Amino acid sequence: MSGGPRVTRVAVAGAAGRMGQAVCAAVEGADDLDLTGRADPALGVALDAVLEDCDVVVDFTQPHTALENARTALAAGRHVVIGTTGFDVDALRAAAQGASANAFVAPNFAIGAVLLMRFAAEASRHMAGAEIVEYHHPAKLDAPSGTAKRTAELMEGDVPIHSVRLPGLVADQDVILGDVAQTLTLRHVTTDRTSFMPGVLLAVRAVADLPDRLTVGLERLLWPG
Ligand SMILES: NC(=O)c1ccc[n+]([C@@H]2O[C@H](COP(=O)([O-])OP(=O)(O)OC[C@H]3O[C@@H](n4cnc5c(N)ncnc54)[C@H](O)[C@@H]3O)[C@@H](O)[C@H]2O)c1
Repeated sequence: MSGGPRVTRVAVAGAAGRMGQAVCAAVEGADDLDLTGRADPALGVALDAVLEDCDVVVDFTQPHTALENARTALAAGRHVVIGTTGFDVDALRAAAQGASANAFVAPNFAIGAVLLMRFAAEASRHMAGAEIVEYHHPAKLDAPSGTAKRTAELMEGDVPIHSVRLPGLVADQDVILGDVAQTLTLRHVTTDRTSFMPGVLLAVRAVADLPDRLTVGLERLLWPG
């Protein structure tokens, strides 16, 4: 038995993708984490092939594959951290309930975006109306973004969402609140996919010890209880 600090073994699903590559690099750069598997059809490696050697699976794949991957990981007793957006979280809840491992899902792993959601929720209680504008790169498959939908859910009133898809963007969001003779704009801007990595690593380190089989939202890790 090793006397060193405990190392968490991490496999990445979607390892060849834009986010997956960034997650692999972040895991490799962390002393307490060991990158043990890269699963991706583009690499010719199925998730099944990397499960045995890992404690946690991180999934950044596609809306139609994330749920199946999570079911596969949970059935093998592996914790799963999911960043993929646009899939049915209620179905994940059902899968997690009978499992012997935990699932964590967050529509946005950027800590600044989570702060924006909290501030927007607070501001919506004091302003007459609000609208959300979210901006992403054109390859994003879902619109509106999971973050925009979650922000609207947390806010008071009916909050319309506008989706912009253009080259040159990563993932930004404005929440514009209006009232008599005034507006308030809350803006979160990312310049690079590494913006998501501190949040992803936080979830990877926390997932095994979470009190519930399914936890949704990085805010649950930032403000537990
Ligand atoms: N939660 C967040 O903070 C956050 C941030 C950015 C992106 N996202 C989401 O992450 C997901 C991935 O985004 P991306 O830009 O990296 O996409 P991408 O298309 O670059 O990468 C997806 C990868 O998944 C692979 N893949 C497909 N099916 C698979 C399977 N069954 N098992 C393993 N791998 C599989 C693909 O081959 C591809 O390499 C999207 O849903 C996006 O909305 C979430």
